[in-house]
Amino acid sequence: MLDDDDIRALAEAGAAAPTGGNAQPWRLRATGKSLEISLDEERSGAFIDVDRTSSLLGLGSFVENVSVAARVRGFEPTVEILGLTRVDEPVVRVLFDLLETRDAIDGSAALLVKTRATNRRPWNGETIDTERIARVAAETEVDRAHRLVTVSGEARASVANALAEADVVRTFNRAYMDEMLTEFRWTAEEAETTRDGIDLTTLELSASDRTGLGMMRKRWFVSLFLSRNRIRSMNRAALLDSSHLAAVVMPRDARPRQLVAAGQAVQRTWLAATAAGLAIQPWCTIPFFYLRAERYADSLPERDVRAIEEIMDSLRDAWRVGGDERVIFTFRMSIPDGPPAALALRRAWTDFTTIERD
Ligand SMILES: Cc1cc2nc3c(=O)[nH]c(=O)nc-3n(C[C@H](O)[C@H](O)[C@H](O)COP(=O)(O)O)c2cc1C
Repeated sequence: MLDDDDIRALAEAGAAAPTGGNAQPWRLRATGKSLEISLDEERSGAFIDVDRTSSLLGLGSFVENVSVAARVRGFEPTVEILGLTRVDEPVVRVLFDLLETRDAIDGSAALLVKTRATNRRPWNGETIDTERIARVAAETEVDRAHRLVTVSGEARASVANALAEADVVRTFNRAYMDEMLTEFRWTAEEAETTRDGIDLTTLELSASDRTGLGMMRKRWFVSLFLSRNRIRSMNRAALLDSSHLAAVVMPRDARPRQLVAAGQAVQRTWLAATAAGLAIQPWCTIPFFYLRAERYADSLPERDVRAIEEIMDSLRDAWRVGGDERVIFTFRMSIPDGPPAALALRRAWTDFTTIERD
């Protein structure tokens, strides 16, 4: 029932999903009736992708995009989240039925999938109205397992402090920084060759910040010239340059199935924000660091584990997150002063897709 053009369209829509470090850690197996999505072992499981959490969120966002694109093409998708047994087994299967009536097809949803992007631009200074926040929250909460939490105005200070403190811990964690520096694509040529990773031009950096980032590749620079105070104040200022500081919250017990569902909720949130003209910039050091501190405390200095726990406690207080909930995706949300300077590239769909007709 799915022809090659459907498969291409669904694969491209899926791959437009956001992923940490633009890792695009997916593989797709298509048949005439279904798509099976699994993890790409080599593109997932890095230091901060603790138990492949960030990758599973990415798979959830991929599936959400596939579902939107399928409806626009006249199919009703059924999503089966299978979980993670082995890394080469499918995590999600999507089956497709023909829609009985095409009257309700909303083509604008497909456009949102294409136009959603990380926008790291400054805030235009206008506070987002509560009606728009409510529209975005309604999408996060469609399945009732997820919630959008936000702070604005004066209340942003404690969240900005906590998120900036996580950046301090990160900057002096060698394993984390070494990994992050490999994600960057330093030249246009490099970005075009790999079509993954973080293209520096998407980061909206000033010339001096860009030089500073390059210098971070040198250990002596970090230890001699970067003070904890400087990292804290730079990141705090950038975080306060936003209307709302927000998070998607999921059930505390973050098993693979629940992470895929959380990725779907993140994507619904982001598509709704895009429809409302709002910019999202993930600021996600803490959710993954916290997972590492919880599950693999031995892999971090004791001082970092304590700092990470305190940061999470203060975020929970600020956003009123309950004991049975987990903060999984943290971000700046604003009306931006303009569109992003550049868009992140994607690998060709044929690079991660195999078609096996039954
Ligand atoms: C789980 C997750 C974590 C992310 N963390 C950050 C982050 O800490 N800082 C940031 O600037 N962007 C972050 N991003 C945004 C990604 O870098 C971005 O989605 C990717 O480069 C693709 O770009 P696009 O969203 O414009 O399509 C994150 C995205 C996801 C899905």
